[in-house]
This record gives sequence, structure tokens and C-alpha cells, in this order.
Amino acid sequence: MRIENFGHGLHRVVYVSRVAHIPPERLDQEVSDIIEQSSRNNAAQALTGMLVAHEGFFIQALEGSHETLTALLDCIAADPRHDDLQVIGVEPITERAFGRWGMRGGRSRTGGGGFDPYALSMADLMGILRVSAVMGSNSRRKAA
Ligand SMILES: Cc1cc2nc3c(=O)[nH]c(=O)nc-3n(C[C@H](O)[C@H](O)[C@H](O)COP(=O)(O)O)c2cc1C
Repeated sequence: MRIENFGHGLHRVVYVSRVAHIPPERLDQEVSDIIEQSSRNNAAQALTGMLVAHEGFFIQALEGSHETLTALLDCIAADPRHDDLQVIGVEPITERAFGRWGMRGGRSRTGGGGFDPYALSMADLMGILRVSAVMGSNSRRKAA
């Protein structure tokens, strides 16, 4: 997937997509599986990030080199577990926001409907992801 290239340094991408082909009762397990798989893969490629599933949408931030991000986004975009993937923003960064994890994730269950993450800015989406990371709303822990 083509994303803006700011050169050799670290990049951050934030995208939004719509959950697809996952029955609601399977979502927790599926998100856990994605995070587990991603933690392994991403750490090996010096990628960090945060994934949240909220009200039928995925919000994900990914941090790494331009080259690794474009390759990973091609895989992720082809994944049938979601569709309508839209990159909301790409920015050059000097520090990772989710640096301690290969991939961290959580699922927020609250909200009164009408949530439209496509309409949010990259800064707003990063706010949601940062709060989720701090609150540690890990689906595996919730399920336990
Ligand atoms: C919303 C979403 C986010 C994903 N994020 C990542 C990710 O950060 N890293 C990753 O390796 N795979 C991620 N995946 C899974 C990839 O689409 C794909 O299944 C995986 O890269 C294949 O890994 P494998 O070669 O180990 O089987 C994500 C999938 C979805 C649906």
C-alpha cells in the first residue's frame, strides 16, 4: 500500500477499518489471536503499535520504517477479517508511542452508537489508542 514517505526515519500510520466476517461472540477471541500473531511478527521487524476494536471498527497505529509499514499494510489490507481500510494519517516520528510492545491491543465495549472513526483526525485516533494502552483494556485479561 502506498503511503507518504518521509525518508529513512520512523513513520507512524493510523488506519481505520470495519470488522467483517467475525461473529460478535468471536470478536474477543479473534482480536486476541490477531494481537498474539502481530506481537510475534511485529517485534521481529522492529514494528510497534496498538490495535483497538470498538463498535464494529478497528483502529490501529503502526510504527516502523516506511518499507516495513508498506509491506505489512499490504498483508493487513488483504485480511478478510475487516474491510474498508482507510489510512487516516502518516507522520514522521522520533519516538514510538507504543514502544514497549510488538503489538498491544484492547477492546472497548462502551459507547452509545453513532461512532464514526473515519471522521476522526489522526490526533483524535491516537488519543483513543493511548488511553486504551494506558487503561490496559486487553481482551484476554477481560475474558479471564
Ligand atoms: C485489524 C487487523 C490488524 C492486524 N495487524 C497486524 C499486525 O500489526 N501485524 C501482523 O503481523 N499482522 C497483523 N494482522 C494479521 C495480518 O493481516 C495477517 O494475517 C498476518 O500478518 C499473517 O501472519 P503470518 O504470516 O504469521 O500468518 C492484522 C489483521 C487485522 C484484521
